[in-house]
Amino acid sequence: MSRELIVNKIKDGTVIDHIDAGRALYVLKILGITGREGRVVAVVMNVESKKIGRKDIVKVEGLKLKKEQVDKIALIAPHSTINIVEKFEVIKKYKVRVPDILEDLLRCMNPNCITNQPREPIKPVFYLQKESPLVFKCKYCGAKLAQDEIIRQLIGE
Ligand code: CTP
Ligand code: ZN
Repeated sequence: MSRELIVNKIKDGTVIDHIDAGRALYVLKILGITGREGRVVAVVMNVESKKIGRKDIVKVEGLKLKKEQVDKIALIAPHSTINIVEKFEVIKKYKVRVPDILEDLLRCMNPNCITNQPREPIKPVFYLQKESPLVFKCKYCGAKLAQDEIIRQLIGE
């Protein structure tokens, strides 16, 4: 048996693996998982990974992710792998992909940006500038939006 098997395998659901260490709780927050839904949820933090040093893992029974949720996970933990499990087997595995463009998801930090003017019905748009570390750029004013701020906005703190 694998040394790294800290929690049981799941039967049917989703395993989000290779989450940047320390970010598992952000992933739960984004998925709206509180633990009160009655689903089996396993959270593993700071375990050793062959690929990225240390990593977190989130396993949720009976969960299928929507594209919008996968995009948000990519913004918080860009190295994550999504594993879809059926009858204890991984039937599909893919890496999340950071979206090239974000429309009406995050706010621009520049108070003078046109997207922050109450009389202007212009929705914020950002273009991906750099993946590691993650940086987006506002379409309208060019202001940068970095990883910390992205996480802050997505988890609502
Ligand atoms: N997993 C699980 N329940 C299952 C099957 C897999 O919880 N029934 C978990 C494993 O513990 C692992 C992840 O899903 O964290 C991916 O499983 P698998 O593809 O078998 O592992 P690896 O080959 O190590 O994955 P990778 O190459 O993506 O690191
Ligand atoms: Zn702007």
